[in-house]
Amino acid sequence: MIAQVAGTMTRRPPPELAGGTPRGTVRIEPLKMADVASAVQFAARVLRVKPGDRGEQFASDIAADSRQMFVAKANSQVIGYGRVAGLEADEAAPGTPAGYYLSGVVVEPAWRRRGVATALTQARLRWVFGHADEAFYVAGADNTASLHLHAALGFKEMKRFRSERSAGGEDVLSRLTRTASCPGHGRR
Ligand SMILES: CC(C)(COP(=O)(O)OP(=O)(O)OC[C@H]1O[C@@H](n2cnc3c(N)ncnc32)[C@H](O)[C@@H]1OP(=O)(O)O)[C@@H](O)C(=O)NCCC(=O)NCCS
Repeated sequence: MIAQVAGTMTRRPPPELAGGTPRGTVRIEPLKMADVASAVQFAARVLRVKPGDRGEQFASDIAADSRQMFVAKANSQVIGYGRVAGLEADEAAPGTPAGYYLSGVVVEPAWRRRGVATALTQARLRWVFGHADEAFYVAGADNTASLHLHAALGFKEMKRFRSERSAGGEDVLSRLTRTASCPGHGRR
């Protein structure tokens, strides 16, 4: 079951729980200072990266007006997060427009395919549509999971371009324009 602090969300019913499948209510909420360390630890473990300056990066989202990070928590643990940031033209990649970009959604492997990333993305879209009429995101052209996740929420591909960030050497820029069916419609 997934609950959100602000607003309601629709999702498919949870699958049958088998032994070893994690249980608990998942809450989606803006990152709080108290969860920064847990989010950094989660990122380091799941993405297999060094923490680096992630703590400072995450904490800076809390106070910033043009950025926000949302976490998914179950049993008081961070089990996923996603970020959103207002970027200038060319900041996400050369040739990209200025606007609000979703980035860095990641979910604990044991919790995947249960709607957690969808809920994190809906929360971020509500936030974006409180500020602007369009949301963008860039993903590797080979990141099928991410492309499917965003397409299911209505994102449309705008263009592809060569990129050194992606293993496949190509990135996709996608956009969602606010409509009556979008999360957060009518909040501005
Ligand atoms: C991508 C990721 C965030 C998805 O998280 P999730 O909580 O499992 O996603 P959801 O359960 O909300 O899935 C929503 C839809 O996305 C698509 N999707 C999710 N994982 C998928 C996969 N492995 N393969 C294909 N499609 C996938 C499906 O359409 C899915 O709907 P369905 O389960 O009804 O078929 C997760 O796999 C992850 O953390 N991956 C590693 C980090 C990453 O690649 N992040 C994206 C960077 S832009």
